[in-house]
Amino acid sequence: MIALDERLQLLKAEQPERAALIELFTALAAKAKEVSRIIAAGGDLGSTIGDQNADGDAQKALDVMADDEFLDAAKLSGVVAAYCSEEQDRAVILDQNAPLVIAIDPLDGSSNIDVNVSIGTIISVLPNPGGDLQQSAMQSGDQQLAAAFFVYGPQTTLYLTLGEGTDLYRMDPISGLFVLIEERIEIAEETSEYAINASNARQWFTPIQRYISDLLLGEEGPRERNFNMRWIGSLVADAGRIFNRGGVFLYPGDRRPKYENGRLRLIYEANPVAFLVEQAGGAATDGAARILEKTPTEIHERTALVFGSKTEVRWVGSYEAETRQGLDQSPLFSHRNLFRS
Ligand code: AHG
Ligand code: MN
Ligand code: MN
Repeated sequence: MIALDERLQLLKAEQPERAALIELFTALAAKAKEVSRIIAAGGDLGSTIGDQNADGDAQKALDVMADDEFLDAAKLSGVVAAYCSEEQDRAVILDQNAPLVIAIDPLDGSSNIDVNVSIGTIISVLPNPGGDLQQSAMQSGDQQLAAAFFVYGPQTTLYLTLGEGTDLYRMDPISGLFVLIEERIEIAEETSEYAINASNARQWFTPIQRYISDLLLGEEGPRERNFNMRWIGSLVADAGRIFNRGGVFLYPGDRRPKYENGRLRLIYEANPVAFLVEQAGGAATDGAARILEKTPTEIHERTALVFGSKTEVRWVGSYEAETRQGLDQSPLFSHRNLFRS
């Protein structure tokens, strides 16, 4: 049994150039333990506080509480130049000369706070590129030095990558220590389980409509097998399940106003999840392009997001490509093959 702090200290001894990252995750894990205890204690955490965040979402008490806690962790660590949060309109500048930039969704799954369903915190760490720190998070996800998410659920867990695989830790509820339970997780390459908010089906664009209707046809359809569906409504919890037993998650763009690029945010939701997923052998795209190659232009920019088991992410890409090439308009088009497009 090895604890996170111990493991981070070992890593620091081996790779002193990573000292700043280690300081940061030590501070973040201490705050996550705190947040997990606040959630477990319950109380009025899901009530709206009357303010909206930059994206127009009504802020809940726990959104703001978690943001305060993790901003505090960033300050205490002494290694963060800028803190870019879902709950802050602009980057919070801490120290022009510090080596790291953090992008964070302090509380993911806000709509699940009131109903005792898993929620979490998502974190992306980038190098400080120098210059205007308001622009410091405008780097492609490939530049990330580390990424993580905590899940506050029946168990409090941590999925962490420092670029050498994705490791899973679980918090011991008595000691509050995060203990390593699985090193270098591998996401199953094949899956028969998908996750999508199907209430938006009429708003989807053609490729996603066609992809999902083929899955729904099951054994009688072109995929020739039955698929199961799961949607928790907290990205962290859906992602945790996919690390555990495979699956594909989709939040595509759709026709609703402001949803052309989906709902999830590139720098503090899609990028860290994509980094963790790729480090576990999975794939993450916006349907067509690899998430980690996209360069953000705005802190709260949204992106369509498809991630999980490699083969299934590839299938989604093949439907997108068929539409782009106009193949699905041809009267002769009926049967498709993953490797044709
Ligand atoms: P947040 O609570 O940080 O705003 O994120 C909510 C996200 C994500 O956790 C989840 O996958 C998605 O929103 C659910 O969206 P729908 O309610 O549209 O299904
Ligand atoms: Mn979120
Ligand atoms: Mn959030």
